[in-house]
Amino acid sequence: MEPTPGKVNMEKIVSLCRRRGFIFPSSEIYGGLSSCWDYGPLGVELKHNIKQAWWQAVVQERDDVVGLDASILMHPQTWEASGHLQGFADSLVECKSCHLRWRVDDLGDSNCPACGGELTEPRLFNLMFKTFMGPIEDAASVVYLRPETAQGIFVNFENVLNTTRKKLPFGIAQIGKAFRNEITTGNFIFRTREFEQMEIEYFVKPGTDKEWFDYWTEERLNWYVKLGIRRENLQLRQHAKEELAHYARECYDIDYLFPMGWSELEGVANRGDFDLVQHASYSGKNLDYFDEETKERFIPYIIEPSAGVDRSVLAFLCDAYDEESAEGEIRVLLHLHPNLAPIKVAILPLSRRERLVEVAKQIYADLRQCWMAQYDDAQSIGRRYRRQDEIGTPFCVTIDFQSLEDEQITIRERDSMRQIRVPISELRTTLAAKLGGEDLFVLPPGGQIWKE
Ligand code: GAP
Repeated sequence: MEPTPGKVNMEKIVSLCRRRGFIFPSSEIYGGLSSCWDYGPLGVELKHNIKQAWWQAVVQERDDVVGLDASILMHPQTWEASGHLQGFADSLVECKSCHLRWRVDDLGDSNCPACGGELTEPRLFNLMFKTFMGPIEDAASVVYLRPETAQGIFVNFENVLNTTRKKLPFGIAQIGKAFRNEITTGNFIFRTREFEQMEIEYFVKPGTDKEWFDYWTEERLNWYVKLGIRRENLQLRQHAKEELAHYARECYDIDYLFPMGWSELEGVANRGDFDLVQHASYSGKNLDYFDEETKERFIPYIIEPSAGVDRSVLAFLCDAYDEESAEGEIRVLLHLHPNLAPIKVAILPLSRRERLVEVAKQIYADLRQCWMAQYDDAQSIGRRYRRQDEIGTPFCVTIDFQSLEDEQITIRERDSMRQIRVPISELRTTLAAKLGGEDLFVLPPGGQIWKE
């Protein structure tokens, strides 16, 4: 079932996220903290599932990529070598009357958009968060919160190479927090100052970089499509020369059609040998690669697919959001891919009668060993189905009075609302098959179609 375009807008997504416990404003009891968000019980599951799906695709299922979890605080020289101390800055102007600061890029005219006051000349404002390490707050103890996870990978290139004995081409993948003191934040979790990245640094022989760049661009685009994002809501956009980051030779954005318009979801960059050359020079360590076959020494080129976890959460939510008329009311549902859905199955006894509850709780205890499951016996069955539809639960299991006689239960599919009835003994294997994509009407032994 295809969600109809135009039904989704940011207000609806923010409201659903808040109402159902996906995402809350940070430190809300104190009035919130600008651009910071907390993932609630369902949000943390969705985010975890996205990271898990990424890790499975880029590390678990590949021979040529290994994982890493580097620390957020790094030696300050890292940021000199990487060019972030000099180059990672926005050009800002300040209003001489109200002192608000504005990005030069965002300004239409030469006066303050807030009060019309006169603006200062532009000056550069570094986007890295600074803090101090240890008890003394002086220049020697300044450290930075990493603005990208990538540098943790580059400085570990030799460690990983020596301990895994990988040969080129190979990659290192990492998921972790990054921090940027962005001037303009907004659009919910789209642009924040604290966010999470999923990055791969893929090391290749110079000369093969174009081919690997194309390969990863395609591979990453397909990952979103496989997990349910409609292809027509994704596009590739090549960076113009003047737009390229200081380290990039070529870059494509994978854009998603968010409610506010086409915006970057992930960037795929050809970083050339910039980072390894810089780190070799600043650290004095040799970061060459020795090719045993050709007996050549060289600095590898790096292809970098860099995705935002929070932007992925937003894109998957927007693409999954749908509203339809059902039984005289509006049914809100999330068509989330089963691998991403926060709750895989809900267990719903038809009533709170003791014998039904007992069977339902046994089933719940059994299923939660395999999947995130929810037990719900409050209000009518129709309302409970709606509650699960709205959070994207792919399947509901209903236990009724007949279940006590025939030891069968019904399974209801979220998107089609079709139902089958299967023996309790077949429930686990049936659900596993359906969550893996098998059609609902492929029946297990003793199963039957219940509702078309
Ligand atoms: N290592 C390369 C790099 O960091 P980037 O294009 O600056 O490249 C990569 O960031 C991805 O990180 C973006 O495509 C986006 O998904 C995410 N990202 C960047 N800044 C962000 C912010 N302020 N808030 C949320 N996500 C952000």
